[in-house]
Amino acid sequence: MASVDDANIKFWNELCGTNLATVLGITDSSPKSLKKFDDWFFEFYPYLLEHVSLAGLAGRDVLEVGLGYGSLSQKIAESGARYVGLDIAPGPVEMVCHRLHQTALPGDAKQGSILNAPFSDNSFDYVVAVGCLHHTGDMRKGIDECRRLLRAGGSLIAMVYYAYSYRRWVQAPRQTLRYLASEILGYRGVVTPTTAQAKWYYDHNRSGAVAPHTDFVSIKSLRNYCRLFSHFQWQRRNIDQEPPFKKRARQELLATHWPGICGLEIYARAVK
Ligand SMILES: C[S@@+](CC[C@H](N)C(=O)[O-])C[C@H]1O[C@@H](n2cnc3c(N)ncnc32)[C@H](O)[C@@H]1O
Repeated sequence: MASVDDANIKFWNELCGTNLATVLGITDSSPKSLKKFDDWFFEFYPYLLEHVSLAGLAGRDVLEVGLGYGSLSQKIAESGARYVGLDIAPGPVEMVCHRLHQTALPGDAKQGSILNAPFSDNSFDYVVAVGCLHHTGDMRKGIDECRRLLRAGGSLIAMVYYAYSYRRWVQAPRQTLRYLASEILGYRGVVTPTTAQAKWYYDHNRSGAVAPHTDFVSIKSLRNYCRLFSHFQWQRRNIDQEPPFKKRARQELLATHWPGICGLEIYARAVK
């Protein structure tokens, strides 16, 4: 996976969220600008803190993997957790270190890959990986590594892209159907989009380039990847104003049952 890692280092050095920051007119990383970004971020993902329940993190060793602009990182550090961040690219690591320094919060962020994480076994009570494992090129190994880092009874909280979302059925019906057929025949694993266009809708940078690697996964296959954990639970989330939901506003759609049936993301919690 060295080549995916190398490509990820370059691509994600431009912070995930830079497009949004540009739209919001954010040009610096002052407390005021970061607050503006974070307010938008948590309003856009109103369910995120239901999955990463901050109240339970105080006094716990928490590793966050895949940092982006650091909105969640700062919230976790503010919760009183012993916070450590890990990201493959230097840009997100610098941003999180800047946030911790600027707010005088304890914690640290390091550069490294979750496919070969620079921490000892059984070091953390929580590993939080939102939007990261599907970009590593090896979701199974990433999950195994998260499990290695957790203490017994510790939890992995992960968000990964859902393989049977409405968007996948609309944009890649044949590939989604083939994935379904292969799962019926016993395959357990991810499906990787074949076109840049399919990836663009999920992640692209300021110049329109797409993430080097993106995978989608079913709940069945994700459960299989998490089979060595003692407990696994999941929920589908997120929806956008796009076909076949073009006529209703996103906020309205979020309140319907559709995200829970065919949403874009799976939020999973796996207990070691
Ligand atoms: C889509 S962003 C998500 C960032 C943030 N969690 C959020 O929700 O906005 C994915 C992040 O995962 C990081 N990443 C990708 N591959 C990684 C790997 N193998 N190990 C650690 N971080 C990785 C990227 O550098 C990037 O910051």
